[in-house]
Amino acid sequence: MKKYWIIGSSSGIGRELAKKLDAKGYELILSSRNEEKLNELNNSLINNHEIIPLDLSNKSQCINVSKNIIKKEMDSLHIIYMSATYSPDNSSDYENVINVNILGLLHILSVAKEFLKNTNSTSQLIICSSLVAYKGLPYSQPYSMTKAALYNFASSLHIELKDIVDVKVITPGFVKTPLTDKNTFPMPLIISASSAASIISKGLNSNRFEISFPIPMYLIMKGLQTLPNFISNYISSLVKKGTDKI
Ligand SMILES: NC(=O)c1ccc[n+]([C@@H]2O[C@H](COP(=O)([O-])OP(=O)(O)OC[C@H]3O[C@@H](n4cnc5c(N)ncnc54)[C@H](OP(=O)(O)O)[C@@H]3O)[C@@H](O)[C@H]2O)c1
Repeated sequence: MKKYWIIGSSSGIGRELAKKLDAKGYELILSSRNEEKLNELNNSLINNHEIIPLDLSNKSQCINVSKNIIKKEMDSLHIIYMSATYSPDNSSDYENVINVNILGLLHILSVAKEFLKNTNSTSQLIICSSLVAYKGLPYSQPYSMTKAALYNFASSLHIELKDIVDVKVITPGFVKTPLTDKNTFPMPLIISASSAASIISKGLNSNRFEISFPIPMYLIMKGLQTLPNFISNYISSLVKKGTDKI
């Protein structure tokens, strides 16, 4: 039986994904800081799951929790790193953004990577990046920078661990969650967290590296990434002028 450790399952996409994977009968470990919300989620699920609170900005907690999880006998482990923190105002809290969005994952892998490599059946590492990873766009730089770093990290590890660990990256466009509820600008092609979770849940069992959605937003961002910089920067500056007026 597959065991998914969903880091960042108290809210938004991670929470909806927990519901989908629970409905499929998988075992789950639910983690994030808010134990009350995790319990509330667990009580609403069909099966009973393990709850392990975790603050990713706390290095020793990341290491101890990871050690405790891999101590248990398991054929494989499927880690889904969904947690992130975001502030639309070019966050002054940039250290926390880097700690939660990037360093937490690295602390966990400093313990779990060897374990993932040595499990009997293929383990998975699923890292949630974003379509903003494709192209630097105006505003919210600390957050977007971490998502670009995660994309690079995932693609590098995917090649390194091919046939040993299944490493995938998730690149969502806009999804309606508490994270995007902070935004005051228009969010084209926004989808629900439940739709996002359905796409991710299917993608987990595919042999694709990247789980990207919605497709029209993926094509727009891929286009911006592929165009010469002088064209894509011009288009981005027009979008900025439009949003600045709002
Ligand atoms: N929504 C979008 O449009 C969108 C687009 C592209 C990518 N994404 C990515 O999708 C993922 C999920 O985002 P979401 O929109 O569902 O956001 P969300 O509803 O705000 O959920 C964020 C999750 O991160 C957890 N978290 C925050 N700080 C943490 C910390 N210090 N330690 C442990 N967990 C922490 C939160 O749990 P606690 O508060 O309980 O700790 C929560 O479960 C993120 O990686 C985000 O970057 C979202």
